[in-house]
Amino acid sequence: MSVEIIQGDCREQRTMQDRVRLYQERFPRWPAPQAVGDSLYGVFAIGNNYSRKKGYPGEYPRTYLDRIRALFPETPLLHLFSGSIEPDSEHGIYCVDADATTPADYHIRAADIGSYWTKEFAVVLADPPYDKALSPEYAVERPDKIKVISAISEVIRPGGYLVWLDTRMPIWSKSDGWEWAGVIAVFGGTNRVLRGAFILRKRLAVPQTAELFK
Ligand SMILES: C[S@@+](CC[C@H](N)C(=O)[O-])C[C@H]1O[C@@H](n2cnc3c(N)ncnc32)[C@H](O)[C@@H]1O
Repeated sequence: MSVEIIQGDCREQRTMQDRVRLYQERFPRWPAPQAVGDSLYGVFAIGNNYSRKKGYPGEYPRTYLDRIRALFPETPLLHLFSGSIEPDSEHGIYCVDADATTPADYHIRAADIGSYWTKEFAVVLADPPYDKALSPEYAVERPDKIKVISAISEVIRPGGYLVWLDTRMPIWSKSDGWEWAGVIAVFGGTNRVLRGAFILRKRLAVPQTAELFK
């Protein structure tokens, strides 16, 4: 089974500097991430906000998605571990979550996305459960993150980006075609865990064997 992917705005040739400018235009009062070569570094100081969101356990902090989408506006976009996020296939936005009560397009395990799509997505945004001690229990067993990152490498386009929000940098491999593209600290206020939005880019060309050991 496979869904039809609409060909949206997929300008992977945007530089990180272009992306910073998009962010500055959208959020002129907040400190923008900085482009350092082909990578992006920054801090989102989001702060505590106790007003109710949708009520789904582990929802993205307020403004996080708007900020990330300002930096990575391309579609098709896949929300992985999408929880309460609504898909919008007309605009190239797809959702996967194993919890059948969520509005996702597919209720499957994240590691299985390769059976549904291949090399389609310009951007994948992932918000997996964190360490046992730090995240709520969900109805499904915790994902094997190494397998999930490898599966994402099969569904993302060359030049596409993965933004993975977590308390630990996930293990990723150059042999899957990934390259490092930066990190943004996500600061949620006093006594909150500091998370990282870890950014990986799928290389445009498969690396030569010698490059894997650099
Ligand atoms: C931190 S929450 C994400 C919430 C989302 N960011 C939001 O704003 O609503 C993690 C999600 O991962 C899902 N999940 C847990 N294990 C999974 C797996 N192996 N495959 C797919 N989804 C999984 C849970 O059902 C939960 O919705």
